[in-house]
Amino acid sequence: MSESFEPIEWSDELSTGIADLDKQHRFLIEANIKLLHDNDRKHLQQVVNDMLCFALTHFGTEEKLMQRFGYENACPEESREHIAQHRNFSRHVVEVVDQLREGKKIPHLEIIKFIDHWFHDHVQVNDQLLAKFIQSKC
Ligand SMILES: [Fe+2]
Ligand SMILES: [Fe+2]
Repeated sequence: MSESFEPIEWSDELSTGIADLDKQHRFLIEANIKLLHDNDRKHLQQVVNDMLCFALTHFGTEEKLMQRFGYENACPEESREHIAQHRNFSRHVVEVVDQLREGKKIPHLEIIKFIDHWFHDHVQVNDQLLAKFIQSKC
């Protein structure tokens, strides 16, 4: 594992200002940091399973908020893109869960980078857009 790679850590910059979402995002960051310090294969499987359960719960939370605040009507393109990214994330994690179950070796760093990119490309972009929209309605 590369010693120089530093996965994203929690900071105010990542906050959406919505307590439930922040708590869920924080959980994913902490699970990812744990992986960086753990080379155990069994643990990787457990963490990836947790990430899958967690992602599904978390996407459910965000998508219910989208419906409740009318995001899909107000911002149809952003909403479609946002949900498509959730589905891509879930599909990828399901693939990883299956590969691990079949005994394929997956470097921890591959998962860590995937989650890290998710924070840069989705949480800091799409989730922030959604959070700003919700806050403008409150
Ligand atoms: Fe999110
Ligand atoms: Fe999202």
